[in-house]
Parts: sequence; C-alpha cells; structure tokens
Amino acid sequence: MPENRCVQGIWSSPWLFILAASGSAVGLGNIWKFPYMVGENGGGAFLFVYLLCLLFVGLPVLIAEVALGRSVRANPIDTINDLHERRIIKKAWVFVPYLAGLAGFLILSFYSVIAGWALAFFERSLKGVFVGTDEYKTQSIFKGLIESPAEMLLWHSVFVVLVILAVGQSVTKGLAVLVKVLLPVLILMLIGLSIYSSLVGDVEQTLIFLFSWNWNQITPNVVLSAVGHAFFSLSIGMGGMFAYAAYMSKHMSIARACTIVVGIDSLVAILAGLVVLPLVFSLNIAIDSGPSLTFVSLPVAFGSLPGGQLVGAVFFLLLILAALTSAISMLELFVSWLHERFYVGRFKAALLLGIGVWFLGLVSLLSLNDWGDWTIFGYVFFDALDKFTSLILLPIVAILLSVLVALNLPRSMLENELITRNPKHFKWWYNVLKFFSIPIMLVITIIGWIGV
Ligand code: PFF
Repeated sequence: MPENRCVQGIWSSPWLFILAASGSAVGLGNIWKFPYMVGENGGGAFLFVYLLCLLFVGLPVLIAEVALGRSVRANPIDTINDLHERRIIKKAWVFVPYLAGLAGFLILSFYSVIAGWALAFFERSLKGVFVGTDEYKTQSIFKGLIESPAEMLLWHSVFVVLVILAVGQSVTKGLAVLVKVLLPVLILMLIGLSIYSSLVGDVEQTLIFLFSWNWNQITPNVVLSAVGHAFFSLSIGMGGMFAYAAYMSKHMSIARACTIVVGIDSLVAILAGLVVLPLVFSLNIAIDSGPSLTFVSLPVAFGSLPGGQLVGAVFFLLLILAALTSAISMLELFVSWLHERFYVGRFKAALLLGIGVWFLGLVSLLSLNDWGDWTIFGYVFFDALDKFTSLILLPIVAILLSVLVALNLPRSMLENELITRNPKHFKWWYNVLKFFSIPIMLVITIIGWIGV
C-alpha cells in the first residue's frame, strides 16, 4: 500500500476509538428516534426484538466492520482496493464502500434537518418560550416550525456549516476530547431527567409499555424496523465506524471496544425512553405520533421545572453536540478518501460534500410542507429517504460487509487482527456472524421488504 493512502494520524490512546465510536453511535437516533420508534412499534415487542438485534446482529456486524477497517489502516475505499490488489478479495467488492459512503451522505441530508429542529428548540429554550408551556402550545410550536421552510432552512444551514467546520479538522484531534466531556454530561442529564419524568409522569404505564408484549405484536414490519434502527443507532453500514477503525490502536481488543460502544448506545436510548415516555403518557400525547414525540413532550417538562429554561437550553445544546459528533462520522469516509487519495484538503473535501448535503436537505425539508404532495411510493421525500436508507441501503451494506469478512477474508487474517484476546470468544463471534447474523439479516430484510 503506497504511503499516501494510509491514514493520517492514529488515536493517541486506545480509549479514544471508543469515545469517537460512541460519539458516532449516540445521537438523534437515541434521543429523538428511539422513543418514537418504540411508541410506533408497540413498546415492549419492539424493545425486545431491538435488544436481540443489537446482541446477535448489531454487535457481531460492528466487530466485523471495525476489524475490516483496522486491517489495512486506510480509508474504507482504499482498504477494499488494497485487499483486492493483494488478491485477497474479488474486484466486485470494491463498490461496497462507495455504497456505505452514499448511505452516510444521504442520511446526513435529513439528519441535519432534524438537528436543525434541535437548534430551533435550543433558541426557544434560551428565550424562555417554554416556560409554563403545555402540550398544546408545544405541539403548535413544533407545527409552526415544520410549516416554516425558511426557519428550517436557516437551522439546517447552521448545522451543515458546523459539520463542515468539524469534519474539516482531523478526527484524531478534537473529536474524542469533545465526546469525553459530552457523553458523561449527557448521561447524567438523562438520568436526572428520567427521575424527574418518573415523578411527574406516568411511570407505571411506561414500564408496562416498555417491558411487556404479545408475541403477535412481533410482525415482519416491527422486526425490520428493529434491525434498521439497530444499524442506524450503531452507525453500521455507513462506513463511519469502518473509517474510524483505521485510526484505532492495534493493541486494542476489537470485541471489547465494540461491546462498550453497544452498551453506551443502548444505555442512552433506554434512558431517553424513560425520560420521554412517562411524559407522553401523563400528557395524553398519542404514543404513535412519530417524529414530533420528543420535541413535543420534553419542553412541557422543562416548562414546569424550576430553572427549566436553563435545563432545557442545556439539554438541546447537548443534543446538538451529540448530533454533531454523529454527523462527523457520516462524512468521514468520503472526506478521508478524498484527502488521502487525491490530496484534497480535509476542509475543501468537507465543503464539497457539505454543499451536496445542504441541497438534498433542502429538498427534504421542503417535502415536509410546500412539496408535501410529491410522494415516492406513498412517502414524502423526507420519509422516503429515511426508509430507503434504514430499511434498504443499510441492511444491504451491512450484509455485504459481513459476507466479505466472514466468507471472503482468510480466517487466519482475522485471527491476527486481535478481534478478541480469547480464542473461544473469537470462535463465538465468527460462528455467530457466519451462521446467525448473516442469514438472519437476509431473511429479515427480504421478509420485511415483502411485508412493508
Ligand atoms: N448513530 C447515529 C444516531 O443514533 O444518531 C446516527 C448515525 C451516525 C447514522 C453515523 C449513520 C452514521 F454514519
């Protein structure tokens, strides 16, 4: 591998990979998407399938993606090219990382619109708009935002600029430091808010909703949504983790690092559920009201909390930063590739991609109002992009990357990668990936497509 194609910089401590990967995993998917996905998909049924998916599909596939990323120490596109040039894998595989990068790029375009909502709510919190508010007021504030393309465009643009500035830096420098402060503060805040929610909200109904289910609630659609969300939440199948793994120290056990990331990601999602759902039940907000759920319920809690103006502002600020550390990883694949392969400056590469993201995001946000009549298979563009990426593109890339690792890379090469220090655990991971995760992903994806 020519020197210029290798990554520029290595994480200075093994923990930095865990921090950066957690920064990628923890984001709007945990705090905004998870509560409403649980709400829309029957509560406990979804949670049960989701946790199984994390353990038996998400974790093994994440380990595979990280092992692949660390094997060559280059960006994902050059890693696969290198494996092909060394005749380890066939030429047909070289297109897979482009698909992964495309997934990250497409997701960022609507992710940034939602991060824009968080920015808008941050501004309103600061101004005290939510003081003494009720669910009807916050509902109309949220509706007002969605019906104002100009305001959504403003915040979407602000977020895209933040992403460009952040990705323009080397990820081995500031990112992990930011996550190191952000994650503990975010987790502590969610714990505090969940206690408050359990005091003022309907905690009994929440626990019944989250931890009980009927088997007939587990439909193909629920299973496909759970797998899709597991990929989304762990940032699998978009090349972000693949790209970060290139900077990871060779002495770190990959399985250990990935298990910690999955643990942190699940903890944040469940905490977010425990914050949002008790409020939703006590305020009689429809549990299946979708993307507005978090944005409508939380401000009511902030509005009645002593010092809620500040608490709300800090919460939305943390949410924006969590979204930012996720967004960085969505562009990292193409930015690192343009930088290492074509010597394009990181900032220039980020700017180029950011402009594309901005335009696509513009179409997404317009589809929520002015262009709402234009649908693709019955979905407005914003929803179509979300469904297309989580239910089609991510599963396809995840399946392809897993097949590549489990069936095409020599087992000895994987054994040398220090996936785990314990040979028994290695065997466990390898067999689960090969004989369980891959077939299950294939079956679920195909059945889900038929059933959706
Ligand atoms: N995992 C992020 C979240 O839960 O918000 C979303 C995400 C990050 C998706 C990175 C894709 C990606 F490449």
